[in-house]
Amino acid sequence: MKTLTREAQELAAAAQKTAPSFPALRRRFLEQRQRENVALNNREWEEKKTILSSTPQRIFLQINAVCNADCVFCSKGYDYPLFRIDEYREKYGEQVTPVLQKAREVILTGSGEFLGLPDAPKIIRYFNEEFPHVEKYIATNASHLKPEIVDLIAGSGSRYTLQLSLHGSDEATHKQMMRYNAYPRVMENVRRLIEARGRSGNISVSFMFVMTTLNVENLPDFVRFAKEMGAERVLAGYFYIYESQQKYLSLYFKQDLANRIIDEARRVAEEVGIEVRLPHKFGQPPETAAKPTSCIEPWHQVMINPDGAILPCDVYGGFNENLNQKSFMEIWNGPAYRAIRTALRSGGGCLTTCPRHNPIGINDWRAHVIHRPKEDRQIAKEYREALRKP
Ligand SMILES: C[S@@+](CC[C@H](N)C(=O)[O-])C[C@H]1O[C@@H](n2cnc3c(N)ncnc32)[C@H](O)[C@@H]1O
Ligand code: SF4
Repeated sequence: MKTLTREAQELAAAAQKTAPSFPALRRRFLEQRQRENVALNNREWEEKKTILSSTPQRIFLQINAVCNADCVFCSKGYDYPLFRIDEYREKYGEQVTPVLQKAREVILTGSGEFLGLPDAPKIIRYFNEEFPHVEKYIATNASHLKPEIVDLIAGSGSRYTLQLSLHGSDEATHKQMMRYNAYPRVMENVRRLIEARGRSGNISVSFMFVMTTLNVENLPDFVRFAKEMGAERVLAGYFYIYESQQKYLSLYFKQDLANRIIDEARRVAEEVGIEVRLPHKFGQPPETAAKPTSCIEPWHQVMINPDGAILPCDVYGGFNENLNQKSFMEIWNGPAYRAIRTALRSGGGCLTTCPRHNPIGINDWRAHVIHRPKEDRQIAKEYREALRKP
């Protein structure tokens, strides 16, 4: 083979510089549209518009799967349709793809353990290739973070945040909360992920702790453990009651304990030097916990369920909108969304009892219970399942 002269080499290098590849051009174009949409979405939120020209900047895509764990607090139930990427693309791809392309972040989570699906690598590849410019967020119990999955994440060219649901700093608490024997495997997987983060630089790792009456006293140790393992942050949140038989796991019944542990966890986080996001404490008088003037979520995000249902957020109750009946924009700017935004603009509506955004709401029992309308058939089924489970 002939070697190139210096001049030819320089020309080839210049040609390469001036003619970016198709994927690079596509990404640049997508990033530009994304930036414009996010800027407009921020403006429309600031102006509290009820009808938006922008589309949401954060999309929760519910990827339902079976789960190998059986967390005591889990909201998933035991019988729901599994996510199938081909079916999803065929049914909703046309509607959802343009919205996803203009979003800043996509959250891949859902009932069960998405990374345990045989199709998980295919799903991750699809999101990496189709939406390289969109940040990705995965909530996982970390038991299926195999080398193939970690490589797909680390080599994606996208930013990824992994939220690892662990709920305990030691094997006994982990097992008590998640009711499976995966602690050694999970620890190995977490170490592999942290190593890959060091090599690739595109991964951020959060450790998640759902606070219940059973494990709350472990939270300060969990903060130390997260720091030792190399996580960037700890996310802790109250357990929400989805099924009535789980109600005594709620810290609503142990408010002083919850407050004491929240203070202690914050102190430990400062001591060891790790970011920690903790929920509001109980019993704060209004003057020490200002109620927010509105909630950003119905402007910034949507949740899309595999059956096409659309929800404003994960703690919102009944919301009867579905992509099978209406187009995305008809829902996004339709009467139901307009009503939520109108109520929120004046500080009312769901904000009154919101466990995430309203510190005073925490004192209200309703903030700890997720109200989703259920058919009688479903209630009877859950009752039978509750008797069957350990
Ligand atoms: C439903 S899980 C699904 C993804 C994955 N299996 C996991 O555990 O991360 C998503 C997140 O919701 C949290 N979660 C589940 N049930 C909850 C409840 N009743 N209250 C508060 N958080 C809950 C989980 O701990 C997890 O962090
Ligand atoms: S790992 Fe996640 S989906 Fe599985 S039981 Fe626990 S919370 Fe539910």
